[in-house]
Amino acid sequence: MQNANRVLRLTSRPDGLPGPEHFTLTDEPGRALAPGEVRIASSFISIDPAMRVWMDERPGYTPGVKLGEVMRALAVGEVVESRADGLAVGAWVEGTFGLQSHPVVSSGQARLVDARLGSPEDYLTLLGLPGVTAHLGLFEIAGLKSGETVLVSAASGGVGQLVGQIARAYGCRVVGICGGAAKCEMVLREFGFDAAVDHSQSDTDLNRALAEACPNGVDVYFDNVGGRILEMALNHIRDFARIVICGRISQTAGQPVHPIGNLGEMLVHRARMQGFTVGDHFHCWPAARQDLARLRDEGLLRTELHLLEGIENAPVALGMLFRGENRGKMAVRVL
Ligand SMILES: NC(=O)c1ccc[n+]([C@@H]2O[C@H](COP(=O)([O-])OP(=O)(O)OC[C@H]3O[C@@H](n4cnc5c(N)ncnc54)[C@H](OP(=O)(O)O)[C@@H]3O)[C@@H](O)[C@H]2O)c1
Repeated sequence: MQNANRVLRLTSRPDGLPGPEHFTLTDEPGRALAPGEVRIASSFISIDPAMRVWMDERPGYTPGVKLGEVMRALAVGEVVESRADGLAVGAWVEGTFGLQSHPVVSSGQARLVDARLGSPEDYLTLLGLPGVTAHLGLFEIAGLKSGETVLVSAASGGVGQLVGQIARAYGCRVVGICGGAAKCEMVLREFGFDAAVDHSQSDTDLNRALAEACPNGVDVYFDNVGGRILEMALNHIRDFARIVICGRISQTAGQPVHPIGNLGEMLVHRARMQGFTVGDHFHCWPAARQDLARLRDEGLLRTELHLLEGIENAPVALGMLFRGENRGKMAVRVL
């Protein structure tokens, strides 16, 4: 008797925010394994802003999910049945296993998790996509140096909270941009940022608040949101600043595109702006993870995980990201 598989398939495409109405939940019988395949019991499924992009027909840097397909998602789980060499029952693995409780994948699609470095939860946060993204963005893309001022948007979120803490651990002054006073308080008190700025204020007030929080200007702006906040941040860059384009969540769920009117700041300050995706840097992941585990062990990193219980809540969790309702890295626990 195979494990039944609880599956969320994409069944319609959103114009705006993603929600339960775009998915169909089914309980499907598990199929027999072919040689080289494993069956995984997913424990945690990562809920990422990129999933909204994958719901569009128009491809981003990865193709969209087709209607009727299992929704694409990253997950961490345990091998419960194996016909693959090197992936024994009981091994912990990570991969793009989708919104399903018991994925069957070929051995090449499942990466072994090094349990000596951290727990399965760690592989959702500091050792997972958020941590590696933050680390690579700061060091490989921005070339971070001690003593610099780092500004990061969506600062209390999965990536942002780690950008700030890593930069601070490397001797930088760290300023976070967040939606609302509670999140500003969170990055100051829980993640040790030096200053926090609430983006829910007028352009004039936001500019003034950024100038006060970054009196010497910004050396590295780690952009998780794009649009208006990117434009505001550019008003505060220093000479030779680096702008890391990590995400553009404010521009991906049907909102009107905000034109950036001050790109001249890039020339005035001889700045560099670079987009990146962690998937292009797989060769850097092991070293980044070692460094992240070291920082955690030295008490310099902590993570806030926002878990919803049950795979059926994945569409709700995805919508929460776009309304700023998550408190830390968003994920679902598969029950
Ligand atoms: N390049 C890569 O390889 C890579 C890898 C992973 C993630 N990312 C990107 O990194 C960013 C952060 O991802 P995450 O998983 O850590 O998400 P997150 O920051 O935990 O959650 C998203 C946050 O974005 C903010 N937000 C949502 N809509 C917004 C809007 N219209 N304007 C301004 N802020 C808005 C909200 O924070 P506030 O309430 O504080 O506004 C929300 O909590 C995303 O853009 C994601 O696509 C990129």
